[in-house]
Amino acid sequence: MEYFSRLINREYPLPADYVPDHLIPCDFPFAAAEGAEKRLLCRTAAESAKRLLEYGKSFGCHLYGISGYRSYERQKEIYEQRLARSGPAQAGRYIALPGESEHQSGLALDVSCPAVHLELEETFADTKEGRWLAAYAPMFGFILRYPKGKETVTGFAWEPWHIRYVSKSLALYLSLTGMTLEEYHRI
Ligand code: DAL
Ligand code: ZN
Repeated sequence: MEYFSRLINREYPLPADYVPDHLIPCDFPFAAAEGAEKRLLCRTAAESAKRLLEYGKSFGCHLYGISGYRSYERQKEIYEQRLARSGPAQAGRYIALPGESEHQSGLALDVSCPAVHLELEETFADTKEGRWLAAYAPMFGFILRYPKGKETVTGFAWEPWHIRYVSKSLALYLSLTGMTLEEYHRI
C-alpha cells in the first residue's frame, strides 16, 4: 500500500539499480510488441489498468497502452533523444531524468487512442477517450499525474495521457480534493 502512494520526482528519485517486484506483461490493447519491456507494469497496476480499459470499452472508448515500465537505462535513452531533438528546456518539461521517472516504478502508464493516432499529445484530452479517462481513472485507482495548471507543483507539463496507480482510495481522495501527489505528501 505504501508503495502505491510513493512520491517519485526530482526531489525523491529512485535508485539507478531499482527494479520493481512483480512486473507482469499488460494483457490489454497495447501499442508495443509482445515481450517489449514497456508492456510491463506492477501486477496490481496491470490488473487495474486492464479493468479500466475494459470498462472504457463498454462506453465505446478505445484506449491503448503506449508505455508502462521503463528501466533507468531506457529512461536515460529517452531523455537523451528528446534533449538532442528539442533542447534542455523542452526535454525537461516532458521527460524525467533517469531515476526521476514514475515509469521506473512500474506504476505509471501512458495511454492514447486511435483518434489521435496513438500519439501522446494534448489533443488526446479532447477525445472521447481522453475525457472518459479523466472521469473514470480514479475509480480504478489511477490519477492523472500531471494535470493542467499544476505544472509548477509537479515540475512537468500537462500530460493528459500519463496515469499513475496510487490505489483506489487515494485516487478518489486526490481527484475529489484536486490535490497532486506532491501536495498530498506535503501535508
Ligand atoms: N513524462 C514523464 C514525466 C516521465 O518521463 O516520466
Ligand atoms: Zn508517462
